[in-house]
Amino acid sequence: MVSVHHNAMIVTGLLLASLAASEPQSEGIPFGKPTRERYFQFQPGFLNFNHGGFGATPRLVRQAQSGFVDQQEAQPTAWFASGGYQKILSEVRPRLAEMMNANSSDVVFLDDASSGLNAVLRSLPWQPQDVMLLTSAAYAVLPNTGKWLQKRYGIQIVQAEVHFPAKSAEAILEPVERALLKLPQPCKLRLAVFDHVSSYPPAILPVARLARIVKARCAETLVLLDGAHALGQVPIDMKQLAEAGVDAYVTDGHKWLMAPKGSGALWASRSIQDILEPAIISSDNAPTTKFQDRFDYIGTRDYTSWCAMGAALDFREMLGAAGGNMCFKQVLKAGHLVTTLNLVGVANHFVSNLAEST
Ligand SMILES: *[C@@H]1O[C@H](CO)[C@@H](O)[C@H](O)[C@H]1NC(C)=O
Repeated sequence: MVSVHHNAMIVTGLLLASLAASEPQSEGIPFGKPTRERYFQFQPGFLNFNHGGFGATPRLVRQAQSGFVDQQEAQPTAWFASGGYQKILSEVRPRLAEMMNANSSDVVFLDDASSGLNAVLRSLPWQPQDVMLLTSAAYAVLPNTGKWLQKRYGIQIVQAEVHFPAKSAEAILEPVERALLKLPQPCKLRLAVFDHVSSYPPAILPVARLARIVKARCAETLVLLDGAHALGQVPIDMKQLAEAGVDAYVTDGHKWLMAPKGSGALWASRSIQDILEPAIISSDNAPTTKFQDRFDYIGTRDYTSWCAMGAALDFREMLGAAGGNMCFKQVLKAGHLVTTLNLVGVANHFVSNLAEST
């Protein structure tokens, strides 16, 4: 799976590079090669085809972050203990929340999606024989943390096998529904986790419908979404997802938002905020400490990557909708071109999953 995915990305990336060269400018920003050279720090001649893995931070965002490091070092106590970085976070948080169509009081910052998945998974009051449901498309953090929970608490892991290319949402929903029907009643399913956009292969999952079928079967089950690849790539509508039954959502900042490494966000429903602990319980985190305060201070460390998420939002605004639209059209074109190269399964995966999202 992994190598198939990478091959597809490499071929597509090469095609994108040649297509972009012929793309007209839009809104004064020269897309394609000039954008890459002007706004990114890649080594000359290097074409980055694996954006999904680690992202790439634009120069402007790195400069903003470096300005925050300067502030931190100019007055460390003011930065950490007198509301320095917290003030900047209070400006970034509503913008981030708006992008997720969420109330900013329900959003906290993370180092990455992995730390958010760990925070949720390891905060739940697991009992022996409790069940955690995931799909075969889940990112490795989930089965790995699940196995740790299994060893520690004696939980059971149920994996619904989903197959790609998925020709319709039903192809994803049906195996999950079958797995749910097999669970004994009364329901011991404590948690169901789904990727919003899977990593290998990349596909958009019908997450609102998945949340609904879980809640219809087991009303008390919590639904967690792994949106590591979503922020900046597909719309995130927390109001709609919460209505469908989603209880928690984690996402990365360093991938498609192009924020620095070490940035991400967690949205949690009010009903579970009190039980969630960050991966690190800090010196400022007592049992009465509020949800956002618990997550906002996790020790003396570099918070500038969270602060610079605002600059990443500025960068997106600067490129405008035309930037995203151009990328989307190019990817579709490239996907269809790949099919003409007859790279069999690789291309079919790619195009059918894209077609699903149009
Ligand atoms: C967000 O939540 C706060 C705290 O509960 C509430 O006072 C506020 O009205 C909410 N804002 C919106 C736009 O719903």
